[in-house]
Amino acid sequence: MIGKICGTGSYVPAHFLDNNDLSKMVDTNDEWIRERTGVVRRHIIEEETTVSMSVEAARRALENSDTAPEELDLILVSTFTSEVMLPCTACEVQKELGAVNATGFDLNAACTGFLFAYNTAQAYIASGVYKTILLIGAESLSNTVNWEDRGTCILFGDGAGAAVLKAEEGTFYQPVTHSDGSLGDALTCMSRHRKYRPAEEEDLDSYMHMNGQAVFKFAVRRVPEVIGEALEGTGFSVSDIDYFILHQANKRIVESVAKRLKAEIGKFPMNLQEYGNTSSASIPILLDEVNRKGMLKKGDKLVMAGFGAGLSWGAVCLEW
Ligand code: ACO
Repeated sequence: MIGKICGTGSYVPAHFLDNNDLSKMVDTNDEWIRERTGVVRRHIIEEETTVSMSVEAARRALENSDTAPEELDLILVSTFTSEVMLPCTACEVQKELGAVNATGFDLNAACTGFLFAYNTAQAYIASGVYKTILLIGAESLSNTVNWEDRGTCILFGDGAGAAVLKAEEGTFYQPVTHSDGSLGDALTCMSRHRKYRPAEEEDLDSYMHMNGQAVFKFAVRRVPEVIGEALEGTGFSVSDIDYFILHQANKRIVESVAKRLKAEIGKFPMNLQEYGNTSSASIPILLDEVNRKGMLKKGDKLVMAGFGAGLSWGAVCLEW
């Protein structure tokens, strides 16, 4: 058995900051941000929380997949930006949805998180433990961004995406994920709750810190590589893939991946211009947009691929 995506949903806050808004907050400008990143606007929470966005995205995915909350066996939430550490977001979502038969937990692999959640769900379904699984990627990144740091605040936004997986007969394509903790310093965010801090860390705040160039170089090399690994053994080549649903971090990264794979850029839908980088929410939000635009037909071959803090990266091939 494999887990087939039967429906998708997403939610982004109505409030947004465009590049001109940011140019009043830090030393930057619309032209620089568009050229270097492709981002034009990013949606930012007001009243929303990671839980409330997750619930809204989940409701839309349940409706889209014609699934009642009671049918869910498992809720998996990928996030590193829950407002509360306990209870976990998945349990809050379970309560709000009335998914009384579901168990759940959160996992954190930063921007690659949704892929890890997808792979975890597939393993549960293949082993027969669960049949119907709700996957959510949700982030309130604006809570972790230093709004005085022009190197990061221009990039990130808030939102949530969800997908419902149901057990069906089908072909399973082996996902590929990697982690390299030795590169972890390139992208960090300290916990606000620390009893003891070593002297060398005393000056560090709890904002996200990033070596942008290091992450950029890592992504343009590793993402095409891991897509190649994920395609190995599927019998498909790059030209057989209908859409590449990539983590939405930077337009230049997506374009570079397309170029290295020698694939048409039209097969790489993008929405980062509207939402910025929403970390683990970016892949499910994009998948939902592509789905709702009617761009996907049964049997289409997709690749989902992501990268992020850890550093971590991965890709998986699936049939719609
Ligand atoms: N506005 C104007 N100028 C800026 C800005 C800004 N917002 N930010 C940096 N600059 C300046 C720099 O100070 C530098 O000036 P200098 O040449 O006088 O020193 C110049 O612009 C070039 O800076 P670079 O850092 O070389 O710019 P780069 O082209 O690398 O773009 C960026 C920076 C956009 C951050 C890019 O490196 C990037 O996108 N990296 C990948 C980041 C990423 O994807 N992170 C998410 C990972 S996912 C996760 O897990 C959360």
